[in-house]
This record gives sequence, structure tokens and C-alpha cells, in this order.
Amino acid sequence: MVSAFIDHRLDGVIRVISIVNRRSLQPLYCAYCSTEQVCKTVDTDVQIHSDHFSYTYGASDVICKGEHMQNATHVLITTDKEGSADHKMEYLPIKNTVVNETFKFNFTICISNLFGDYNNVLQFAQTMEMYKLLGVQHVVVYNTSCGPDLEKLLKHYETEGILEIVSWPIDQFLNPSRGWNIKLHNGDIQYFGQIVTLNECIYRNMYQSKYVLLNDIDEIIMPYKHTNLPSLMEDLQPAHPNIGVFLIENHIFPKTQFEESGKFKRAEWKNIPGINIMEHIYREPPRKNIYNPTKMIVNPRKVQQTSVHSTLKDFGGSFHVPFDVCRIVHVRVPLQGHLTKEELFVDKRVWDFEQKLLPNVDQTLKLSGFL
Ligand SMILES: *[C@@H]1O[C@H](CO)[C@@H](O)[C@H](O)[C@H]1NC(C)=O
Ligand SMILES: *[C@@H]1O[C@H](CO)[C@@H](O)[C@H](O)[C@H]1NC(C)=O
Ligand SMILES: *[C@@H]1O[C@H](CO)[C@@H](O)[C@H](O)[C@H]1NC(C)=O
Ligand SMILES: *[C@@H]1O[C@H](CO)[C@@H](O)[C@H](O)[C@H]1NC(C)=O
Repeated sequence: MVSAFIDHRLDGVIRVISIVNRRSLQPLYCAYCSTEQVCKTVDTDVQIHSDHFSYTYGASDVICKGEHMQNATHVLITTDKEGSADHKMEYLPIKNTVVNETFKFNFTICISNLFGDYNNVLQFAQTMEMYKLLGVQHVVVYNTSCGPDLEKLLKHYETEGILEIVSWPIDQFLNPSRGWNIKLHNGDIQYFGQIVTLNECIYRNMYQSKYVLLNDIDEIIMPYKHTNLPSLMEDLQPAHPNIGVFLIENHIFPKTQFEESGKFKRAEWKNIPGINIMEHIYREPPRKNIYNPTKMIVNPRKVQQTSVHSTLKDFGGSFHVPFDVCRIVHVRVPLQGHLTKEELFVDKRVWDFEQKLLPNVDQTLKLSGFL
């Protein structure tokens, strides 16, 4: 069991986001209780997400099959039909009990799992400051572990209030794989349970945020015709009124190719660990016959189940946003490493934010003790 929510779109049933062993299924029951400690045990509908990438364990929704659950406050999944629930197990609090369409945030970013000794401080600070300039108010990261310097920066952003750090100790329960492909990365569950965290984040923000962006820590969903995300969505949403899922193409900016002038090799950033995105303005061309994966801007109230590049179940369909309107700036190791600079496109979009971005990054690095 990971988290439990009332799903008002499905008559107010309790949805428990969970991880199941797909090779050892057994009947599951929900024991749920109200404030008055009146408890009830009901059957469940276990919906295993189709995107499990062949790993043994996968994301699933355990839907409690009952009526009048809206007053329930906590729930437990059990194998005991009689409902004499194992009291040593912890109940989960039930969230999203009331519908609220007055959102605390307009744009929230869900960054799935942080793990290993990832210590890319400069790129993270630049990316966070860019998100702010683009109109983001809230970022959620799922933390399994990270490097010592990034830890410091995360704490800074948490104190500042923009960052919500969700503890994600998946490695204490399962052997998570370090990649998505089971042939290359063995383990019990795909990529530190990335799919589970993305789904959790959608429900966590359902009544908190108008839109949720699902992308990785090194990706920026960047409008190219609008100055920020609010103005982008003010155009896109009325043009596609029922759509709740906007697909944004990923584009690779190799960290191995540097811009020529060297104007962003700043002394201030010399000793900061990590990639300087301002130096990487060469973009890889699309590859023939290879699908360019997308990430998403979603209305969480229109999503039931999500995967990484598209949703699995939604209520309004999805729309592929044209590349010239919005695309992802993804500075990382190249995918087409054989290409020379001349074979890449020059794409200086991040430079448009230079005037505000540089002082804001410096200010953050000062406040978090790096400068
Ligand atoms: C839920 O609680 C409210 C307020 O206490 C009460 O009026 C209502 O009857 C309860 N609903 C159910 C299904 O128990
Ligand atoms: C809805 O959310 C807003 C913003 O977080 C909050 O101020 C308000 O109290 C909430 N309303 C209800 C009914 O919970
Ligand atoms: C969200 O957008 C609305 C309308 O554009 C605006 O009035 C409101 O202040 C914004 N909320 C936040 C938290 O920025
Ligand atoms: C991330 O998780 C690790 C492992 O539990 C913990 O040591 C670290 O303090 C966490 N970092 C933050 C910023 O919460």
C-alpha cells in the first residue's frame, strides 16, 4: 500500500495506489473505517497497470468495492475476508476526501525518483529557477537517496516552500532496477517504482494544482511561442476544451557539445558540481523511424492511470503539442553521440531567460551555502 484516495469521478470509491507481485495474486479485501471507528470489510477490484515492463512487481490500483465510503478516514488492504485486520499493519489515511477546485497551485511538477548518489547541483538549481520563471509554484520529488551537495540544495528549496520532498524508501522493500529495460537492468520493479510515484503524484495534487507536469529532474518543459506556462495553457486549453493530457516531445541537448563563446563559463559556477545547461545549446535532430518519446502536462482530474510517456486511462483524451509550440529541453549524455556540432541544430531558447535566471541561480546558491 502506498497511498489511499477517494475517487469522486468513480462514485466516491476508495482507490489504494499499491504495488503488487504480479506472479502471486490472491484475493484482497479492503478494511475501511470512519472517525467513529466503525469499520467495514469489502471486496476489491485489483487493477494492475499494463505498463510493468515485465518486472515481477508493478503499480496497481486496489479499488474498494463498496458504497457510501465518503466518510471513511483510513483503510487497510488485507487478505483476510473476515476483516479481522492484522492490527500490526498500519492503516493508510484516506486523502482527497472533498472535491476542491480552488487550487493552491496552477502548475506543479512531479519529478519521479531521485536515487543513487545523484549530485547534479548546478543543473537542478538552474532548472528550478527556470521553472519559477515559467510560472511553476510547486515541485514534488520522490527521494530514495541523493548526493551530499544536492541534499543541501533540496533542503534549501524545501525551506523556501516550493519543493515537497516525499520519502520513497522503495529499496528497503524491494530490489529496484536502475533502468526501465529488464534485459539491461534486473530487479523486482521498474526504475525505482517510477510509475507508482507518478500516479501517486497525480492523486496527491488532484485538488491542489490546476495542472501537473510529469517529467524528469533534468528536463524542462519549455514553451517556445509563449513566455511562460500559464500563457501556453491559456491558448492550448480553450483550443482543446476536453483534453486533459498534453503530450510534449523530448529533445536531447548533448552535454558533450559546448557553445563557442564561453560566456556562461562563469567564475561563480566553477566549483558547483553538475551540468551548466546554458552552455549546451546544440539539439539532436529527430531520428528517422524512431519515435520521439513524450512527457506530459496533465489536468490531474482527467487522469485515472498514468505511465511515463502517456496516460493509460484518462477521461478526455490527449493532444500532441506541436514541437514549435512547446518541447522539452533535456541536457544529458547524447543519444546520437556520433553527430558533430554541424549536424546538430542550434537552439538557444534557455538564453532568453538569462537576465533573470543568472542572478536567481546565484542567489539560490548563496542562500544554500554554495557561494
Ligand atoms: C457521512 O457523514 C455525514 C456528516 O457526519 C452524515 O450526515 C452522513 O450521513 C454520513 N454518510 C454516510 C454514508 O455514512
Ligand atoms: C480548497 O483549497 C483552497 C486552497 O488550498 C483552500 O484555501 C480552501 O480552504 C479549500 N476548500 C475546501 C472546501 O477544502
Ligand atoms: C493561478 O492563475 C490564476 C488565473 O490566471 C491567478 O489568478 C492565480 O493567482 C494563480 N495562482 C497562483 C498560485 O499563482
Ligand atoms: C533523501 O533520502 C535519504 C535516504 O532516506 C535521506 O538520507 C536524505 O536525507 C533524504 N534527503 C532529503 C533532502 O530529504
